[in-house]
Amino acid sequence: MIDILIIGAGPSGLCAAKTFLQHNPNSKIVILDSHSTVGGVWSKERLYPTLRTNNLYPTMDFSDFPMKDVGIGRPGHHITGEEMHAYLTAYAQHFDLMKKIQFNTRAVRVQQGPTNDGWKVEIQGPADLISTVTIPTTLLETKKLVMATGILGVPSMPSLSGSSTFDIPLLHSSALGPQYQSVLQNPNINRVAVLGGSKSAYDTVYLAATTGHKVDWIIRKSGRGPSWVFPSHTKIGPFKAWREKLVNRQISTFFSPCVLPDRSGNQISWIREFLHTNKIGKAVTKKFWEIMHEDTIKDCRYRSDSKSKGKGDDERGDFSVLEPPHSPFWYGTSSGTLNYEQDFKALVTSGQVTVHREDISHISPHTIHFSDNAGAITVDALICATGYSAKPPIDFFPRELHFQLGIPTSTDSLTEEQKVAWDEYDKRADGIIGERFPQLVSPPWSTTDNNTNPSPPSTKIDTKYTPWRLHRGIAPPGLTAAGNNSLVFLSMHSSVTNIPRIELQCLWSLSYFHDKVTLPSIAPFAFRALLPEFLPEFAQKRQGKQGNLRTKPAGASLTTRLQIQPVHKSSKTRRYFNDGVRFDPLWDMEDIILI
Ligand SMILES: Cc1cc2nc3c(=O)[nH]c(=O)nc-3n(C[C@H](O)[C@H](O)[C@H](O)COP(=O)(O)OP(=O)(O)OC[C@H]3O[C@@H](n4cnc5c(N)ncnc54)[C@H](O)[C@@H]3O)c2cc1C
Ligand SMILES: NC(=O)c1ccc[n+]([C@@H]2O[C@H](COP(=O)([O-])OP(=O)(O)OC[C@H]3O[C@@H](n4cnc5c(N)ncnc54)[C@H](OP(=O)(O)O)[C@@H]3O)[C@@H](O)[C@H]2O)c1
Repeated sequence: MIDILIIGAGPSGLCAAKTFLQHNPNSKIVILDSHSTVGGVWSKERLYPTLRTNNLYPTMDFSDFPMKDVGIGRPGHHITGEEMHAYLTAYAQHFDLMKKIQFNTRAVRVQQGPTNDGWKVEIQGPADLISTVTIPTTLLETKKLVMATGILGVPSMPSLSGSSTFDIPLLHSSALGPQYQSVLQNPNINRVAVLGGSKSAYDTVYLAATTGHKVDWIIRKSGRGPSWVFPSHTKIGPFKAWREKLVNRQISTFFSPCVLPDRSGNQISWIREFLHTNKIGKAVTKKFWEIMHEDTIKDCRYRSDSKSKGKGDDERGDFSVLEPPHSPFWYGTSSGTLNYEQDFKALVTSGQVTVHREDISHISPHTIHFSDNAGAITVDALICATGYSAKPPIDFFPRELHFQLGIPTSTDSLTEEQKVAWDEYDKRADGIIGERFPQLVSPPWSTTDNNTNPSPPSTKIDTKYTPWRLHRGIAPPGLTAAGNNSLVFLSMHSSVTNIPRIELQCLWSLSYFHDKVTLPSIAPFAFRALLPEFLPEFAQKRQGKQGNLRTKPAGASLTTRLQIQPVHKSSKTRRYFNDGVRFDPLWDMEDIILI
């Protein structure tokens, strides 16, 4: 019997293993990963040339293992994919985790043990590998289970009519690493189409264009259009401000809807309340976001006036087509940074990249046909940067367990009673959030279910999944309510400060596994629907679906329009960690976030 089984050797799984081993070096910990190297998104097999972090050095390292100590990264630079991989490998070696990892092994099914106090995990791996590791069976039994499988592992591929006749490479952006050579280094591939309007699409367009390809970039007309992808710095008056740091300053977080309690323990600080509900405060907030919006447009140089025209712009391609339709207020963490060495705008204005705001009606050999008689283009490859599915990468069995676990599940896995229960919680939450943040009540896009997955008629609409409904964004609410603290999910939401967030989640999980977390006086199941419990949904961005947590129909709940706001001062968090204090069983997520 394993003490703690961790599925996933990305940043979350590695940090979890380190945290648990520091607490008890003798515990039997096994980490599984379907890749052959550590790093998850940053594993060797997923890297593609030009991949860099959105973040600037040094905000992607763990507090107890600074990148500078291992000579990785340069101040003021984005960290490259290779550097992130090297860093996470060094981290795993430094904390002696490598020998605990079983690579090339996929967990396929999870079910509770016979007495419901542990877990059985079915695994699949190459037979020769399984025979060389210490665990000789394909069924693992563990007392505690950590799901660190990430939210960007199951590619969401559009189902395009005619794809069976498409005789050229058709791949997802997540395969850019393994297929880079065969597609973008293939001398027969000259013209590449890229589908999607968010950060992966930017990266794919950039990679294809800078490797000499003519690029047709398709952003569907029926969707929400392009995301904000802006420079890392902006200007505030005469000062150059680092955007990533700006969003971590408490003063700027007040302008965002955030339902986490403030330091004094109130549900909402008077400043935030003033800024979001008082007439004068609302006007100030509106102005703040208008200025932010205008500045971001200028920073991105979307509008071609003489001032914004950059070197190399010869205006053959219209760059304004990439301007997102709404204020950055509505985009939250689905924004990205222009972390490229070459000027992205020049690739479009020079005509090397042509942007099509069209829906695809169907595809045929070498050809992509647009809807509404908008023509067709002939290409040599189609890369779909269409994001990731909300479907968990492991089958939790039986399906009846899904409600208790709070994991995304197809609505037909829930009983009518369970659906009604969640609907009621959502309605209550919507009421409270709408009262506190009235501007969220009328988002700029439709909130009807019909528009949540806008697809042209020829594409199939994916099965809809329910959102993550985890206690504190980590623990299964039903099991927690029943006193069973044997399972946690890490990183099922994302923020701009992912690494500190992972460290905090691991500490909270350790506390939780040891029954040291003070649970709310009412059952977590119900309490989750109240404000401080909405952590997973904050990350789900205000626009509802676009981005990396596409689990909830847009507009079905106001909670989906809230954004995670790191309200802690990261320097203090770091000082706390650097002081060597690793674990305080009394810590609760709120305390951790608010230090
Ligand atoms: C291209 C790209 C760029 C990104 N850039 C940034 C960035 O700049 N800044 C940032 O903060 N975040 C970024 N992210 C988000 C990224 O998800 C986080 O940086 C971080 O990798 C999350 O770590 P994780 O360990 O939770 O998940 P992951 O890194 O996704 O790791 C999960 C691991 O679980 C394994 N796994 C999944 N299912 C199974 C299974 N059934 N059996 C066995 N193993 C399994 C996977 O193989 C993977 O190795 C980016 C994501 C992508 C896709
Ligand atoms: N560090 C980096 O440089 C980097 C690089 C890549 C990714 N990332 C991160 O990875 C995460 C995921 O980003 P992502 O860009 O892969 O996914 P994403 O943010 O979910 O974006 C998916 C895009 O595809 C579109 N789309 C979805 N289904 C479609 C369909 N059927 N047909 C046409 N278009 C469709 C979406 O637009 P609509 O649904 O509105 O039409 C959206 O524009 C983000 O957190 C991002 O920051 C980081």
